[in-house]
Amino acid sequence: MTQHPMLSGDRFRLGTFSTNCSSGMTPTKVPERWVNSWDNNLKLAQMLDEAGIDFMLPIARWIGYGGETDFHGGVLETMTWAAGLLAATKNIAVFATIHTAANHPVVVAKQMATIDQIGHGRAGLNIVAGWNKPEYEALGLTLPDDHETRYGYAQEWFDLIRKLWTSDEHFDWDGKYFKAAKVKGDPKPMRGTVPIINAAGSPQGREFATDNANFLFTPAIDLDRSKAEILELKAQAKAKGRDVKVLTFSHVICRPTEAEAKAYADYTAVQNADTDAVDNLVRLQFAHAHSFPHDLLAQIKHLFALGHGGFPLIGTPDQVADGILKLHATGFAGTTLSFVDYIEEFPYFRDNVLPKLAAAGIR
Ligand SMILES: Cc1cc2nc3c(=O)[nH]c(=O)nc-3n(C[C@H](O)[C@H](O)[C@H](O)COP(=O)(O)O)c2cc1C
Repeated sequence: MTQHPMLSGDRFRLGTFSTNCSSGMTPTKVPERWVNSWDNNLKLAQMLDEAGIDFMLPIARWIGYGGETDFHGGVLETMTWAAGLLAATKNIAVFATIHTAANHPVVVAKQMATIDQIGHGRAGLNIVAGWNKPEYEALGLTLPDDHETRYGYAQEWFDLIRKLWTSDEHFDWDGKYFKAAKVKGDPKPMRGTVPIINAAGSPQGREFATDNANFLFTPAIDLDRSKAEILELKAQAKAKGRDVKVLTFSHVICRPTEAEAKAYADYTAVQNADTDAVDNLVRLQFAHAHSFPHDLLAQIKHLFALGHGGFPLIGTPDQVADGILKLHATGFAGTTLSFVDYIEEFPYFRDNVLPKLAAAGIR
């Protein structure tokens, strides 16, 4: 069997992020903000698939961030979303994003094997070990305060899944967090496993990612820092005999002139920002997670209003392509893209930026 599309070749990977969530990546009040309906996701997925985009990554979210728009209050569940999209596309990889504490590993092992068959080997799994305390409370779960427990739990969760994907015999599991009697994974993913994404920021989480993931997802706020961070992560993985690629996420506003792009950024993220939602988003990120550098708060707040903290790709097609080339030069293996209205804005990016990336040799 050929390699998984997410793992084959060395082109700079491009995907989308958060199309399953209301308002996508932009906590804005503008009327054209993203409507995360199934029909919109389907239409976009088919457009991305035809354009040769590599993957779609959803956000798993159980409660919104409040504000006038209740940013991310509406969310399509990611496993069923991925199943539907895999059935309706041909080449693009589609990930499910799964919280370890909310989804039993025996169930997830089978769900992943099922959607991988639906997509003929194009499914992937983004593992979330937990960080958003109010969300855990909404599910009646307790978020452990310490990262050792969060990632210890995630490790056993994934070890059990891996065993279900590799063992041909029934087996018993008697772990610290899970017990299982006479279980067997049948069917298994088409290649025995699927590409794994993890977006940890903490040292414990990065141990988990370099032990288990194919891709680590991390914000790109300051590219000099990112360069050092990527080298460190790759060295950490290499010392374990593993190769981990580092991905980031970007927000795109691409227009014929720089002035138009900047004016639209101002319109969405300054004049019409859902400021309560932005405040809640930033407060929660800083309370429970280590993903964003805590010393860059002011800059980060603006980036959250623009695109949930994503790297800003704002300007003409040349400027947007240059930004992507900079991410590539920094050592990132790819980025997700978000747009205020993905369906309206992606075609301009496809027609005007993708050819520049191909000409530069990274796609
Ligand atoms: C690009 C990216 C995607 C993420 N996707 C989700 C998600 O869909 N759902 C979620 O609850 N957390 C998500 N997270 C949070 C991470 O999985 C992780 O829990 C968080 O960054 C805290 O890291 P730490 O536990 O190492 O401090 C994401 C983080 C990043 C940077």
